[in-house]
Amino acid sequence: MTQKRHIYLETYGCQMNVADSEVVLRVMHDAGYDRTDEMVKADVIFVNTCAVRENAEERIYGRLGAFRNRKKTKPGVVVGVLGCMAERLRKDLMESESHVDLVVGPDEYRRLPQLVENAFAGEKGIAVRLSRVENYDDIVPLRTDGISAWVSVMRGCDKFCTFCVVPFTRGRERSRTLTGVVKEVSELSFRGFKEVTLLGQNVNSYRDGDNDFANLLASVARIDSFMRVRFTTSHPQDMSDKLVHTIAEYPNICNYIHLPVQSGSDRILQLMNRTYDLGHYLKLVERIKRAIPGVSLSTDIISGFPTETEDDHRMTLDLLRRVEYDGAFTFKYSPRENTKAWHMGDDIPDEVKAERLNEIIDLQREISLRKNRELVGKTVEVLIEDESKKSPKDFCGRTDTNKMVVFSKNGSCVGQYVHVNIEKANSATLFGNEISHN
Ligand code: SAH
Ligand code: SF4
Ligand code: F3S
Repeated sequence: MTQKRHIYLETYGCQMNVADSEVVLRVMHDAGYDRTDEMVKADVIFVNTCAVRENAEERIYGRLGAFRNRKKTKPGVVVGVLGCMAERLRKDLMESESHVDLVVGPDEYRRLPQLVENAFAGEKGIAVRLSRVENYDDIVPLRTDGISAWVSVMRGCDKFCTFCVVPFTRGRERSRTLTGVVKEVSELSFRGFKEVTLLGQNVNSYRDGDNDFANLLASVARIDSFMRVRFTTSHPQDMSDKLVHTIAEYPNICNYIHLPVQSGSDRILQLMNRTYDLGHYLKLVERIKRAIPGVSLSTDIISGFPTETEDDHRMTLDLLRRVEYDGAFTFKYSPRENTKAWHMGDDIPDEVKAERLNEIIDLQREISLRKNRELVGKTVEVLIEDESKKSPKDFCGRTDTNKMVVFSKNGSCVGQYVHVNIEKANSATLFGNEISHN
């Protein structure tokens, strides 16, 4: 009998990539490959990549260096670059990195076993066609049992924000079937998962026949009332009242919405082609806060988009103060070749981008701290996810509103819902003591 081959896989980028890697592992598993966490044991090394900002790609070049060394020691190993950077750079990547055998974009994963076979026979391969229909609806992602699972419900993006490579690396929007998603989540519930996050670059555009994202969310929420349902990312333009009311209606749909705004200046929003203005965004936030009391909101912000002035930047700070997000993911603008913004130049010096970014981060930290401190003395419900990394005496988990809580163990176990009395808080974490299980 021949020995089983082993695949080693590293994943970078967003949760969509994490979900895709589980599809890749399934496809490879069905072709006879077992996963290994040790690169030295691998016959195949894959890296699932991100191209969203330059620093994401730089990090991957660093990893490719490590794989080159591995290939020097074991020349027979097949090295494959998957995902968004593969799709963006295509044959350039193959030419600049001579030890790479395969360059495979996000819609070509079904072909991996064949491509790997060819690579073992000495034939390099590039597969970067984007599809209008591929959604891997029939492939059951290969997951390790746990508490929380990512479930991709739609792929691609049609928004074409001027700064963003995703429409180019992931292609056009397409949705999985509602029945396919419901079946997958039902199986996850049966296996003991306690939380699912429905994923798409723009989940609000989900559509399967007459069913929109609100219908999908409701169908998923009805599967198991003890299973938390999260979703990301919501585009502010397509967030319907129906969706807001669905979130409010089902107790197991988490009261947390990631609603990236990118900038607080209408002029910049227009240059970004975000398709909403501040008036629309603020009204939406009002409607959400009214319909879902205690809702937690987070956002993405880009600092230093082309032509951004101090005034534009102040407007972003003002917006943070007005909305009072619970958290924000913040990025320095990174020009990406072939996007519209690429042609607008990159006129904001790096120091200015960094200075503005720091102001945004400092302000948001203050706001997050204030909001978290409001919870001190209160009791929150937490789904236990894991042992705390800092102390084996503590657990960590999150509230429905996605706040991380660290608390002392008190006879409960991972996967349970417990009540925790909050005693202190910083801007990122709440700390407390468990008072009971459910
Ligand atoms: N589809 C999601 C997320 C896309 S990528 C959305 O629309 O919100 C995640 C975040 O990366 C974006 O929200 C944006 O803030 C940031 N981003 C994307 N392209 C970027 C670029 N060229 N430079 C800096 N940040 C970028
Ligand atoms: Fe990129 Fe905009 Fe699509 Fe988000 S909505 S993935 S930022 S193009
Ligand atoms: Fe990166 Fe691709 Fe996700 S560019 S952010 S891995 S969709």
